[in-house]
Amino acid sequence: MGLHLGDIAPDFTAETTEGTIRFHQWLGDHWGILFSHPADFTPVCTTELGTVAKLREEFQRRDTKVIGLSVDPIESHRSWVGDIAETQGEAVNFPIIADPDRRVAQLYDMIQPNANATQTVRSVFIIGPDKKIKLTLTYPASVGRNFAEIIRVLDALQLTDRYPVATPANWVEGADVIVALGLSDEEARKRFPKGFKALKPYLRLTPSPQTQVEGSTASRS
Ligand code: BEZ
Repeated sequence: MGLHLGDIAPDFTAETTEGTIRFHQWLGDHWGILFSHPADFTPVCTTELGTVAKLREEFQRRDTKVIGLSVDPIESHRSWVGDIAETQGEAVNFPIIADPDRRVAQLYDMIQPNANATQTVRSVFIIGPDKKIKLTLTYPASVGRNFAEIIRVLDALQLTDRYPVATPANWVEGADVIVALGLSDEEARKRFPKGFKALKPYLRLTPSPQTQVEGSTASRS
């Protein structure tokens, strides 16, 4: 059975390029991203891991730890990271899990036999500090992931975790957000001092909560 949003991300112990880790202990109380790639020494995967390495500061800024996985053995990972540094201009700066017995891949349903019987698909799991799965993505081997989108959705998850809001289509950090349906207009006015614009009773837009200081009297509604 696959994993669903809100499930606790399964814990495991595994060998990685940064030593043996216990997953939940390694996550601590941070956000986490676990992502799989089909195989070492392959072109799309090489570009993906280089891209993630270049985003290190972006993930750190979002209190997020990143970890990769493929079913190749640790010696293969160790040898491949040299190619990534050479071709992508950035050394891998996060652990990559070696999962030759496919234990972790099976726990996370990363092998999807109708796509490929032995290699993992390109899975992404975003995990909250409560260890619950907040987002899953699945890409096929032939399509590299858009890590700008993964950062964008991480921003949206962290914002909606912190404030009673939802994010509209194509939202980016700093743009207006939607007041949560569960909030009455009166509660929304208290919670969002800049007020809100009601296009419909169920569609109320307010500036990014990070720009609003509770208790201020400014209002646009
Ligand atoms: C790649 O990363 O380029 C790749 C991996 C497995 C199958 C096809 C492409």
